[in-house]
Amino acid sequence: YSVLLCRELWKDDRREPVGIHNWLALPELLHAGSLIIDDIQDGSNVRRGHPAVHLEYGVPLGINAGNLAYFLGETVAQEADAPDDVKLKIYACYFEAVRAGHIGQALDLAGPGQLVHDAVESGDPDALLEHLSLVYKLKTAVPSQSAARIGGLLAEAPEDWIRGLERYFLEIGIAFQMVDDALDMEGFEDNRKVRGGDLLESKWTWPAALALSRLGIEDRRKLAAGIESPSQAVVEELLAMIAGTGAIADTKTRAHAMSNTAWKAVRPQLRDSHAVVRLRALSRYLLERRR
Ligand code: IPE
Ligand code: MG
Ligand code: MG
Ligand code: MG
Repeated sequence: YSVLLCRELWKDDRREPVGIHNWLALPELLHAGSLIIDDIQDGSNVRRGHPAVHLEYGVPLGINAGNLAYFLGETVAQEADAPDDVKLKIYACYFEAVRAGHIGQALDLAGPGQLVHDAVESGDPDALLEHLSLVYKLKTAVPSQSAARIGGLLAEAPEDWIRGLERYFLEIGIAFQMVDDALDMEGFEDNRKVRGGDLLESKWTWPAALALSRLGIEDRRKLAAGIESPSQAVVEELLAMIAGTGAIADTKTRAHAMSNTAWKAVRPQLRDSHAVVRLRALSRYLLERRR
């Protein structure tokens, strides 16, 4: 949807371009493949309200399917209709997204290490939050940004214009991940993911880190110990503690503010069109979703 929309933002042409479906498969395959792998790496059992792929088919086939999805996109792109120079640029952009996603995933899986200890002892989570924002940027926002570039390239839009739109998608990508982390604690609609799943995976996310600035030393240590060795009962208690500080709601508020600031920056470069309204609606949907 983002690729189509970004193309249309420049072209202002709602007719479906011949052969566009091939290009739409590229980000979709990357997205689906990365979720299959992510669920294996995170040890998550539920995806979109159903058993994760590796539960149905086993870890070896899951890894293979996820990796295959990354490489399949190239074949559909080769068959798609676009000038060679545009194809080459999309190819480079795609691999940048895959690389950034993997580096972000590496940082995410390795965890924030010493930053947690420092934030817990001092009650100042700024360095930890900054680290988490970098992880979000790499694992989620750069891939989201690539949709803007692919759409812009297909529309043969000027480089400056594409860069402006990319900055917007980068910001809403980070905001999207912040909301994802808040929803992880609130619970997704229809139990599409396990509530408290990040804590159960010993994962520090934005709301948990933000809560550190609002808790006393005893509770901060309790939170850190609970995240280090979680159990279902401990997680319920930690979720209540974090929610009680207002950190979950404030994570969402912060995400909305980032999206609004980015919107003000990008809006002047976009001419009035149906696509502009849909872009704004998409951003709101991403942040206000419950699923
Ligand atoms: C996003 O991180 C993973 C990818 C970008 C592949 P998460 O691990 O938080 O994603 P969910 O919560 O499992 O969907
Ligand atoms: Mg995950
Ligand atoms: Mg993950
Ligand atoms: Mg998540």
